[in-house]
Amino acid sequence: MSNYQIAVVVGSLRKDSFNRLLANAIVKLAPSEFSFKQVKIDDLPLYNQDDDANPAESVKRLKIEIKGAQGLLFVTPEYNRSIPGVLKNAIDHASRPYGQNAFSGKPAGVLGASVGAIGTALAQQHLRNVLAYLDVPTLGQPEAFIHVKDGLFDETGNLGADSKKFLQNWMDQYVAWVKKHAA
Ligand SMILES: Cc1cc2nc3c(=O)[nH]c(=O)nc-3n(C[C@H](O)[C@H](O)[C@H](O)COP(=O)(O)O)c2cc1C
Repeated sequence: MSNYQIAVVVGSLRKDSFNRLLANAIVKLAPSEFSFKQVKIDDLPLYNQDDDANPAESVKRLKIEIKGAQGLLFVTPEYNRSIPGVLKNAIDHASRPYGQNAFSGKPAGVLGASVGAIGTALAQQHLRNVLAYLDVPTLGQPEAFIHVKDGLFDETGNLGADSKKFLQNWMDQYVAWVKKHAA
């Protein structure tokens, strides 16, 4: 029985997304008292403040899943040196209407994988700005700017040996962070 339910938000809708692969692989490094569920963001409408009083079912579902979680895990690509629009759209939905921010106070971790050399560093920094405004305590260290290259994953989609060692430490710190901050 898990004591900590984590809502995982993947910032890519791509079928063969490296970030989804990373999200699926890293959760296996967590202790059994943690369980993880990816929230669905591909059916959310574009955020429109006019709809705040009458949100779509997909928006209601997203907010219920975020509110029911003890922690958050964001795994995102970098698009044009920032976060993908689909991720920002999901965050905007779950943070509104004003005063009903589903993220408030929930501890978070941020990870990202990119084929580019800086491994989503700028996207993660932008995301941290947004999360700070939304009152989300976000793990500062270790940072995880994952460069997608041979050996990151093995043929079964699990983490390769070197990346596993690095990310096990990341997960250990994340677990401690969630335990410290979860109500
Ligand atoms: C619209 C777009 C913008 C991108 N911009 C960046 C970027 O700023 N930095 C970067 O490292 N990679 C960039 N990329 C490449 C992505 O890192 C790469 O497509 C990655 O595989 C996307 O993540 P995913 O595999 O999880 O979908 C961009 C890709 C797209 C489609």
